[in-house]
Amino acid sequence: MNINAFNNLSYGVYIITTWDEERPTGCTANCAMQITAEPATIAISIHHDNYTNKCIEKSGRFAISILGVKSNPSIIGTFGFQSGKKVNKFDSVKYDVFSNMPIVTDGCAYLVCDVINKMETDTHTVFLGKVMDADVLSEDDSMTYSYYHNVIKGKSPQNAPTYIATERIKENKTDKYVCSICNYEYNGDIPFEDLPDDYICPICKQPKSVFKKQ
Ligand SMILES: Cc1cc2nc3c(=O)[nH]c(=O)nc-3n(C[C@H](O)[C@H](O)[C@H](O)COP(=O)(O)O)c2cc1C
Repeated sequence: MNINAFNNLSYGVYIITTWDEERPTGCTANCAMQITAEPATIAISIHHDNYTNKCIEKSGRFAISILGVKSNPSIIGTFGFQSGKKVNKFDSVKYDVFSNMPIVTDGCAYLVCDVINKMETDTHTVFLGKVMDADVLSEDDSMTYSYYHNVIKGKSPQNAPTYIATERIKENKTDKYVCSICNYEYNGDIPFEDLPDDYICPICKQPKSVFKKQ
């Protein structure tokens, strides 16, 4: 299996919000997609350990704030690298209440959903939500996941469904150095670039310079 294929899937960057009793809370997510048009239905994937999961389960509702390229990237960090179990994330992020759900003011659009079904995986709950309300907040382009990684240079934590693929792709990148003489593939613990200049291929004894990055 070539895990680099995962890198070609497209996502956006969203803040999934809900209520913890009277308190608004939520988390950053890249996994959200529309799965039917009529009735409009959305699927999100939320890690079992995320506090947001328990709050959606309890409230039966969630909203998706779709971030735009001009949204403040610190919102992604506030919602994506700490837990609402310990902090009030909305203390530092402005929100409005639409259809009784907290919506990030700095987003470019929002959707409000009632949970109509769910499916458990080993690590994440896939919630299906029927869209009850939606609106556009600005004309800015929405932020893609690749924009977040490539332009903002952001990272994803372990609870993001795409985390493992990303980490393994990284490992792959440092591993793929192939000897152009004998096709020996360097699989050492340290990055190939950090090997001493007098490193020689253990199979054909050619110098480091004949290795090609693939
Ligand atoms: C860019 C980005 C994308 C993420 N995508 C998801 C996701 O789709 N599903 C998920 O469960 N967690 C995702 N996460 C991780 C959660 O946002 C993170 O674990 C958060 O701290 C959970 O907060 P909570 O405990 O308040 O729910 C993502 C984080 C980042 C930064």
